[in-house]
Amino acid sequence: MVRRSEGLALEPLWESPGAPSEPVDCRGGTLPTELATRFPGELTIGLCPERPTIIANFVSTLDGVVALGPNEPTAGGGEISGFSNADRFMMALLRALADVVVVGAGTVRVGRRHVWTAAHLQPAHADAFAAWRSALGLSPHPTLIVMTATGNLDTTHAGLNAPGVPVILATTRAGAERLSGLPLGPNVSVAALGDDSRVAGGALVELIRGTGARLALCEGGPHLFGELVRARLVDELFLTVAPQIAGRDDAVGRLALVEGMRFGEGQGRWSNLASIRRAGDYVFLRYRLEP
Ligand SMILES: NC(=O)c1ccc[n+]([C@@H]2O[C@H](COP(=O)([O-])OP(=O)(O)OC[C@H]3O[C@@H](n4cnc5c(N)ncnc54)[C@H](OP(=O)(O)O)[C@@H]3O)[C@@H](O)[C@H]2O)c1
Repeated sequence: MVRRSEGLALEPLWESPGAPSEPVDCRGGTLPTELATRFPGELTIGLCPERPTIIANFVSTLDGVVALGPNEPTAGGGEISGFSNADRFMMALLRALADVVVVGAGTVRVGRRHVWTAAHLQPAHADAFAAWRSALGLSPHPTLIVMTATGNLDTTHAGLNAPGVPVILATTRAGAERLSGLPLGPNVSVAALGDDSRVAGGALVELIRGTGARLALCEGGPHLFGELVRARLVDELFLTVAPQIAGRDDAVGRLALVEGMRFGEGQGRWSNLASIRRAGDYVFLRYRLEP
């Protein structure tokens, strides 16, 4: 296991001079002093006036692998990042700014212990993240939305039962039926969004909007991310490039080749590089996706 970037700052290398294009409204700004020691400068995310803004966060190996096979004993994002503390800090920062975190059920099924809060990723800075959210007028933790067509979830998962974290299971009618037979925590609600085999991107946006959220963070996995990209719902991508080479051709989640997405068929998306940071051998890229 590679363990790099422990305690390193995410040093700014380059920032696009032109962006953001004067958003009417934005989230974030200059970081509080404690957090700024790890992330100098500011982190500001423009908010869409007409719908919730959706940003995504991924970590990839140098050869473009974001997930190993579902039957791998070690299939989590941590293996992809080499359990990088700097990557966890980046994830925590984005969670700290988000009203909602959205993940697919495949990501939830990888483990049983993860909790989708900033504090879970950076317990040493939990108070600083909480204070920043409070200063920004945000609730203590983002709402977690889990996308599942089947409703096949372990409802005892720590992330579905974390105190103070509202959870919405966004599912189909069949998924809701399955979930109705399972014990759900008091903070968990089920949203049956249509009777199709999938929850449409538009329905997810309306669900997010219904919570009052302005900023949603999609943390994958690659299938959900691909769906949202194809539906042109992702506004920005924060991509960590980890100094690892997977060196295998059976990995399930190559970022650019998610299910159903083929370049040359009008489905590829161009993105504008907005900033570059580095922590040791890790590179942190921020892209704004063209509408
Ligand atoms: N490198 C990274 O940054 C990163 C980030 C996240 C995850 N990962 C990795 O990615 C792997 C999982 O990948 P994945 O692509 O299979 O997982 P995923 O996208 O998290 O989950 C796919 C599942 O999500 C549900 N889903 C997705 N879109 C849906 C929609 N529109 N409507 C209803 N349900 C929807 C379905 O669940 P049901 O099957 O329940 O119907 C689907 O099978 C894991 O190994 C994880 O560690 C890596």
